[in-house]
Amino acid sequence: MSIWFLLNALLLLWAIWNVSLGISSYSSYIHILLGFAGFLLFIFNWTRNAVFSTIRNAKTRHAKVRLARMSKQIRPYHRWVGSSALVMVVLHGLAIIHLYGFDLTNMKILTGFLASLNMMVLVLSGWYRLLIDPRIRIRKLHIRLGISMFILVAIHFLF
Ligand code: HEM
Ligand code: HEM
Repeated sequence: MSIWFLLNALLLLWAIWNVSLGISSYSSYIHILLGFAGFLLFIFNWTRNAVFSTIRNAKTRHAKVRLARMSKQIRPYHRWVGSSALVMVVLHGLAIIHLYGFDLTNMKILTGFLASLNMMVLVLSGWYRLLIDPRIRIRKLHIRLGISMFILVAIHFLF
């Protein structure tokens, strides 16, 4: 099992906690639900990383084959889940800007903005990898952007 399963589960719990607090204290919360939807789609795709590292470290052939089959079934959806995550996050950002204005001195808005820029490059790197160049360099870039995305989202939740 990869440590990423645990980290992803913890981030998911944190998101649920923050969203519940947010929803219970506002009368209008569509902006929060949009952020949550984007987050759920992101964490679903990012769990591919946990599955892949588990495959690499799996002790028995049986476990490897089982995980590889599962990951193959999800593969066709990966690109659309990732692209929809970006759409949700952009809608979340637009709803926030409509509510509070584009105030980059607000840490929540600044960190969200940085996370959404990261997400844009992550999704672009995915399409580039799929359509133009699948070499190891782009693969590494795609994974590193996933890691920095994870960190930025955690910082976004902190404020
Ligand atoms: C990858 C990008 C993003 C993700 C995954 C995301 C996710 C979330 C989630 C789940 C929440 C609700 C929980 C909480 O309050 O911590 C939230 C709240 C918030 N987000 Fe984002 N967000 C992203 C991008 C953005 C952007 C681009 C902005 C600003 C332009 C932004 C500004 C905010 C603000 C201000 C709140 C607090 C809402 C309130 O309490 O009224 N976020 N975000
Ligand atoms: C939320 C956004 C995304 C995240 C977190 C994400 C994450 C990942 C991860 C963790 C892997 C496996 C890493 C490895 O090769 O070991 C992967 C593979 C891949 N991703 Fe993404 N990705 C995202 C969006 C996209 C998008 C929009 C595309 C568009 C085509 C894409 C295309 C690919 C391709 C072609 C692979 C390699 C083939 C495969 O394993 O399915 N990704 N991605």
